[in-house]
Amino acid sequence: MVAAIELRTVPPDAIAALLPALAELRIAVFREFPYLYEGDATYERAYLRRYAEADGAVLVGAFAGERLVGASTGVPLSAEPDEVTAPFRDGTDGWFYFGESVLLPEHRGHGVGVGFFAAREAHARALGFPRTCFCRVIRPDDHPRRPADYAPLDDFWRRRGYAPLPGHRASMTWQDLDESVGSAKMMEFWGRTLP
Ligand SMILES: CC(C)(COP(=O)(O)OP(=O)(O)OC[C@H]1O[C@@H](n2cnc3c(N)ncnc32)[C@H](O)[C@@H]1OP(=O)(O)O)[C@@H](O)C(=O)NCCC(=O)NCCS
Repeated sequence: MVAAIELRTVPPDAIAALLPALAELRIAVFREFPYLYEGDATYERAYLRRYAEADGAVLVGAFAGERLVGASTGVPLSAEPDEVTAPFRDGTDGWFYFGESVLLPEHRGHGVGVGFFAAREAHARALGFPRTCFCRVIRPDDHPRRPADYAPLDDFWRRRGYAPLPGHRASMTWQDLDESVGSAKMMEFWGRTLP
């Protein structure tokens, strides 16, 4: 039987203690297409630190009892590095940026992903941010690791009110499964104005 999941917006001073569990989740879930992330503990420590340190950061945890089985994150866009903010040529003002949403496969399909968006949008709104955004990797349709039954999340995001932001693209580098060094990927930004 799959345990009931509770979603909790984690208080800022409790985020740091959950980062090792979030790193494990990211490494487990992002092996899947389209991320194909090999996983790098050193990168994870450096990358995730912003959620413990940046003012306004949020971590929404999905808990089965006290076990973290999923999480989603966010941070004011201004706290992100240049590679993320560069496509926002009019500046980062007013934008709240969503990081990952990861959930172990056995807990999917019960509304946790929808809850992740609702909780992060409520957090952004409470801090006075009128707009939220995130980015996704673009992979070619004929990518050799694309599963035959792969369904992109586009419709899920559109139903949440998001659409691609015209002209907002950036290149990010990580090491794919089967690669011996990192390679650049094209990222596309999506966003919305909160109702
Ligand atoms: C994205 C993710 C967190 C969604 O979690 P979830 O709890 O299964 O999502 P929900 O049950 O709330 O489903 C929400 C909707 O998305 C759809 N959906 C969920 N996962 C999907 C998937 N992998 N592919 C296509 N559609 C999906 C559902 O059909 C549902 O449709 P609705 O809008 O009509 O209700 C989860 O699938 C996951 O961890 N995926 C791998 C990591 C990932 O891709 N993260 C997103 C970018 S960082």
